[in-house]
Amino acid sequence: MLVDMLTSRRSIRSYKSIPVAEASVKALLTAGLASASSRAIRPWELIAVDEPELLDALSRAKKHGSSFLSRAPLALVVLGIPSESDVWIEDTAIASSNILLAAHDLDLGACWIQIRLREASDGRSSESYVRSVLSIPDSRSVESIIAVGYPDESPEGYRTEDLRWDKVHRNRY
Ligand SMILES: Cc1cc2nc3c(=O)[nH]c(=O)nc-3n(C[C@H](O)[C@H](O)[C@H](O)COP(=O)(O)O)c2cc1C
Repeated sequence: MLVDMLTSRRSIRSYKSIPVAEASVKALLTAGLASASSRAIRPWELIAVDEPELLDALSRAKKHGSSFLSRAPLALVVLGIPSESDVWIEDTAIASSNILLAAHDLDLGACWIQIRLREASDGRSSESYVRSVLSIPDSRSVESIIAVGYPDESPEGYRTEDLRWDKVHRNRY
């Protein structure tokens, strides 16, 4: 059941040192490209990164929370195209989330790395840092980097009874 998949998904930041199978890379890209988007504009582009030097450079995209990327075999960088849609953030967040879920379904581990509104270790914005590492034009925004690899950790999934049911309302607040 899909809900079981959703509750067993966790962020994975530790990976085995083996490359992600090409069929799985294609499946992850398919999941991103098939995502829902407002008015079917699909205001995104994806970059699959598997060159170790680039992954190492990207691991310094943030002061905190991106270092594990240097030990990941794959990163999918989700770009937004703000000129195409005023809701590109929502659309690219959905694409990013679908990639996370597809990774879990493929027995891969994945973790979202936030780039927008964050700072790189060298003081630049994370976004301009990633742009310069990957030669991304200024017309594209960097929504997320999804680190992917075969999991080398296995955090417990969520138990239904432990979820924050106090955040749910019915009919009226
Ligand atoms: C929008 C967003 C940004 C995130 N940014 C980072 C990040 O920069 N680095 C990181 O290690 N994890 C990041 N995460 C992962 C969260 O820390 C993680 O989802 C949260 O702790 C809940 O854990 P879980 O994914 O295992 O359920 C991000 C997740 C989301 C949805």
